[in-house]
Order: sequence, then C-alpha cells, then structure tokens
Amino acid sequence: MKQIHEYGKSEAYNIAVIGGDGIGPEIVREARKALDAAAAKEGFSLKYAEYLMGGAAIDETGEPLPKATLEGARNAEAVLFGAIGGTKWDNLPRNLRPETGLLALRKGLDAFANLRPVKVFDALVEASPLKSEVVRGVDLLVVRELTGGIYFGQPRGRDDQSGWNTMIYSRFEIERIAKVAFEAAMRRGKKVCSVDKANVLEVSQVWREVVTSVAAGYPEVELEHMYVDNAAMQLIRNPRQFDTIVTGNLFGDILSDEASMIGGSIGLLPSASQGAKGGIFEPIHGSAPDIAGKGIANPIATILSAAMLCEYSLGRRGAAARIENAAKKALELGYRTPDIARFNADKQINTVEMGDLIADLIARED
Ligand code: NAD
Ligand code: IPM
Ligand code: MN
Repeated sequence: MKQIHEYGKSEAYNIAVIGGDGIGPEIVREARKALDAAAAKEGFSLKYAEYLMGGAAIDETGEPLPKATLEGARNAEAVLFGAIGGTKWDNLPRNLRPETGLLALRKGLDAFANLRPVKVFDALVEASPLKSEVVRGVDLLVVRELTGGIYFGQPRGRDDQSGWNTMIYSRFEIERIAKVAFEAAMRRGKKVCSVDKANVLEVSQVWREVVTSVAAGYPEVELEHMYVDNAAMQLIRNPRQFDTIVTGNLFGDILSDEASMIGGSIGLLPSASQGAKGGIFEPIHGSAPDIAGKGIANPIATILSAAMLCEYSLGRRGAAARIENAAKKALELGYRTPDIARFNADKQINTVEMGDLIADLIARED
C-alpha cells in the first residue's frame, strides 16, 4: 500500500530480500545496487534481510516457503524477489515444489493484484522481433489477478488416469481486481480491456458481469471485453491499442510473457504485487536455468521492479524515477546484455556490468 512520505525526513526501510534459484540471486544483487544508489541520493536508507525460498529453501530446510521467510516478508516494508525453480526440483510433488513456495508467499501476503507494465524503450525498438512501427511507443499495463483462479481452485488433484484443476473466481475476487484496474486506468489512458474466455467458461461469464458492473463506477473509463485467444493475437498485431488489461491468473501469466517480447526481452519486464502491507516486487521471468551461473542475465527487469518498490511500497517516487531514468540512459548509451544485443554487439556487457553501470548513472545524476 502507498505510504505518504514526508520530505526531509531521513528513514530506514526494512526490505526482505529473496534471491531464490538460478539467475535469481545474480539479478537481485544488481537491483540492490540501484536501490542503494537511489536511496543515497534521496536521503533515506534500506536495511536488507535475506530469506530462503524455492529450491534453495527446499535444499536447506525441506520446505519451499520456510516460516521465517513468510514472517520476514510480513514484517518488512516490501519484498524484493528474484526467481525460483529449476530442473533439480521438477519431479517433486506439487506441495514441495519451488513454485509452491512463491504461490504461498503471494497468498500469505494477500498480494492479489499483480501489475506488469509493458513499456517499450525507444532505444530498444530495434531489439524487438516485431516491426518498429508496431512496437514504438507501446505503454500498456497488465493487471493480473494473482491469488485465485485455476492456480488455487479446489478441487484439484491427480490419480493414475487423470489430473484436474478448477478455475474458480468469486464475485469478491473479481470486483477487487477490477477496481485496481479501473483505478490504474484513471491514472493512465482511461481504457480497460478485460480478457476472458466467456464464450466457453462459466467462470469467465461471471468475470465479465462483475467487471461490467465495476465499470459503472468509472464512467470516464472505456471498457472493452476481449476473448483471450483474440487478445493473444491482438498483442502482436497492434499492441498500441491497449492501455490497461485486466485478466485472471493464468491468462495474465501467459499474456505478460508474450507481451514482454514487444519490448525485446522478458529480461526487461518488472512487476509489483500489492500486498496486505508492502507488496512483492519481482521480474516477470523465471530462474532461467539455461543461463544461470553464466553472469549474462539481464538485470533490468529486477532493477525496474526495485523502482516499483520505491514508488508503491515506500512512497518514494523520486527514487523510482532515478532508477527508471538510469536504466533508460544505460540503454540509450547503447549498452546491452546478450538478450537485447541483436544490433549492438559492440557494447555487449554482462549482468554485473549492467548493474554497476545503472548504479553509477544514478550516483552521477544530480
Ligand atoms: P524463464 O523465464 O526462466 O526463462 C525463459 C527464457 O527466457 C530462457 O531462455 C531464459 O534464459 C530467458 N530469460 C529469462 N529471464 C531472463 C533474463 N533476465 N535475461 C535474459 N534472459 C532471460 O522460464 P522457464 O525456462 O519456463 O522456467 C524456468 C524455471 O523458472 C522453472 O522452474 C519455472 O517454474 C520457473 N519460473 C519462476 C518464475 C518466478 O520465480 N517468478 C517465473 C517463471 C518461471
Ligand atoms: C510468474 C511465474 C509463476 C506464476 C510460477 C513460477 C508459479 O510463472 O511469476 O509469472 O505462474 O505465477
Ligand atoms: Mn510466468
């Protein structure tokens, strides 16, 4: 939740840090550098406490979300998180998998609203596999419901012959996520596109009804409904048509990975999940086992998540702007991690170099 910040007051904020697995610890380290640099400029400080989650926690404690981690997250101002998961833990039963730790953290913090902004950097227009004229200027927000839907619905299970899950949404759950989307749209382009599968699924029919009734409270906002299959296509055909997209847990997961490529790489997309207290700030991507340990992951998604942390949980818009501007500047100067280096191989740098560069740019700015 947003807090009001009194200017001139020096404060120390407690941040729970969860590196996780794969590239998680590598990218979180770089995000901390950016946070510290921005905090120094803005006259506040951050105290970090590190916690285990996911595969690292399973190896150490036998469970994907140790109690100490949930407690630490609850008591902190905000959680900065990298990523979890990896092939090592893929054959464990669901309740012991790394992913279950993350789902339990989101649920435990009541972080039901996952904001995933997709903003195309001018400097990276050429890095997208889509044509420049399609992606230039894209600025959309995916509001993904995060603690319900098919991820959590009962019954679920498996036996020898089959497996089953339940996609269920209560009116209460739909109403609260729809309100987040309409409020966000009021601060943006005043357009909401609600994405569902109401031509087939009862859960989507209820979704559509509730979103429509919430829209009545926002007469200035234009509401459109779109089927998820069409939305997947429209995101590639003409992404600029979207302002704010609101959708359920599974559809939002899939569409946001798809949308990340509009801007050139999944390594660029941050997220903020509103929690009971501070919230969880994490890149939308995973632990990238294929590049883990190589030092080449793009830290920008996590660095921009740190910016969202400053804005949403600390009420420090100034620090957020410093981080965002520095990331933008690093790209404008031509520096690229390998995932976005298609046309700028001469200034290719690694994870640590990108993190250092961004922190340095923050420190050197007035
Ligand atoms: P992924 O997002 O980890 O990786 C997909 C592809 O994108 C890979 O080729 C990877 O190298 C690349 N990529 C991802 N982040 C990158 C970055 N910052 N810089 C450069 N390239 C990047 O998805 P996946 O491979 O399907 O899943 C791997 C593991 O991560 C699985 O265990 C999965 O469950 C987990 N996962 C975790 C989260 C999370 O912690 N929030 C999210 C998604 C997947
Ligand atoms: C994400 C991930 C997670 C999700 C997994 C790892 C549980 O894909 O954060 O997008 O599906 O929410
Ligand atoms: Mn995902």
